[in-house]
Amino acid sequence: MSDSVEQMRTEIARRRTFAIISHPDAGKTTLTERLLRAGGAIQLAGNVRAKGERRRTRSDWMGIERERGISVVTSVMTFEYGGCIFNLLDTPGHEDFSEDTYRTLTAVDSAVMVIDAAKGIEERTRKLFEICRLRDIPIITFINKMDREAQDPFALLDEVGSTLALDTAPATWPVGRAATFVGTYDLRAREMHLTQELAQSDPRLQALGEELELVQGALPEFDRESFDAGALTPVFFGSAMREIGVLDLLDALVSFGPPPRAQATETREVKADEAAMTALVFKIQANMDPNHRDRMAFARICSGRLQRGMRLRHVRTGKQFALHTPQFFFARDRQLAEEAFAGDVVGIPNHGTLRIGDTLTESEDLRFTGVPHFAPEILRRVRLDDAMKAKKLRQALTELAEEGVVQLFRPQDGAPPIVGVVGTLQLDVLQARLAGEYGVAIGFESTPFSLARWVSGDRGRMEAFIAGNRSALADDLDGDPVFLASSAFMMRRTAEANPQLTFVDIKQIG
Ligand code: G4P
Repeated sequence: MSDSVEQMRTEIARRRTFAIISHPDAGKTTLTERLLRAGGAIQLAGNVRAKGERRRTRSDWMGIERERGISVVTSVMTFEYGGCIFNLLDTPGHEDFSEDTYRTLTAVDSAVMVIDAAKGIEERTRKLFEICRLRDIPIITFINKMDREAQDPFALLDEVGSTLALDTAPATWPVGRAATFVGTYDLRAREMHLTQELAQSDPRLQALGEELELVQGALPEFDRESFDAGALTPVFFGSAMREIGVLDLLDALVSFGPPPRAQATETREVKADEAAMTALVFKIQANMDPNHRDRMAFARICSGRLQRGMRLRHVRTGKQFALHTPQFFFARDRQLAEEAFAGDVVGIPNHGTLRIGDTLTESEDLRFTGVPHFAPEILRRVRLDDAMKAKKLRQALTELAEEGVVQLFRPQDGAPPIVGVVGTLQLDVLQARLAGEYGVAIGFESTPFSLARWVSGDRGRMEAFIAGNRSALADDLDGDPVFLASSAFMMRRTAEANPQLTFVDIKQIG
């Protein structure tokens, strides 16, 4: 094996690409900040989170986010710790942005599930967990806020296990509780990680001794294989705010966090340590810097080594794509990426060539799968207040739809465009961004439609169907036909009347 292949493999093996999943308020932002700080990416704890004039994470670019205190955009934060390179992909906390979250989860190798120790498993955590399960993503559990009144650790483990049908293996055990919580006991290394010294006779140590007997007798031990398969989660206890248990978590990611996984394509599985570089675009973000009007495609490198200046094949169009300025993102900065490896996420500035779901390769004709579009649950007609801006609106809607802010449907009968969303907050974001970034004021009107399905079939039948249903047909961003129905009943009736056509609510892109 040549030196450079060996070096590539070493680099890939030390990548840890993960996301944090949680219900709002469980402590994701606080934990993110502590992780970045442990990796030296942030000098002062407390400055990721906005409180009054304090800074927010760099992922919180948009004004609308600040106003609402929710994370709308997804970004990546890279830091180094314990010899590993961590790529933390931020996901929006609010369920209205679940499509964005889903796409981001296609780009990670593991997830940290943060649970509020008082509240246990909450709705959003459960949903995000299900997405991870679909993809067999290994999950590490962090039970946060142990410095406050919390449920009993045994009860929490039980809840995680029974609610999610997932085996749990405690990796650490809390020492003290609530106001007297002072640290953790590492069950594998058998060492204490305490924030203060405790006397031998301290009641917390006595209690710990008794609990450990129960833990070791009754609870499963960590098993690497079950973890890798997504069937067992190691559980850590801590307090992000008081910085207890955070290093336990990071050390675990270093020692058994999964390195870059193999990724499925339409034709074969691509292994991370293959020599040829491949990458998958899972997110587009426009106007990150309002002064530059740039569009950033976030691509996960799925195999090999990326080098700046490479000429790549853009598989969807078959064209060449010159990789001039790939970038890394840190907590506050970006930097040109001269070289990157499987597992890394790079931002690629472009002018709209790259789309969500696109594959880039050195030459092979491969298409990564697994990045879906979901049929929207809410459809609205866009009302333009100033008719002079029709052209601008068209361009802006296309760009924002390419970014995945909303889905865009152009009715075949020439009526004004319809936007489709999963949650209404997406509409607010669209409206705010059209006004703020493009200077176009819009409103929304109801449509007669409540459901959208992608429709396909052989050409003759499609042509007949289109001719007979033009007022209920629209083209999506890629020009694929979408049937719009006023109700589930109508949708069913239409599907039954056209058994040779296929109506689907999930479209794979790529
Ligand atoms: P999120 O991103 O998951 O929504 O949660 P975030 O980190 O914003 O935390 C939500 C609230 O919980 C914050 O309080 C935060 O300070 C608090 N918190 C996070 N981790 C811990 C912890 O380990 N222990 C305790 N006791 N609290 C924790 P807030 O009052 O909403 O905001 P702030 O005023 O502290 O900024």
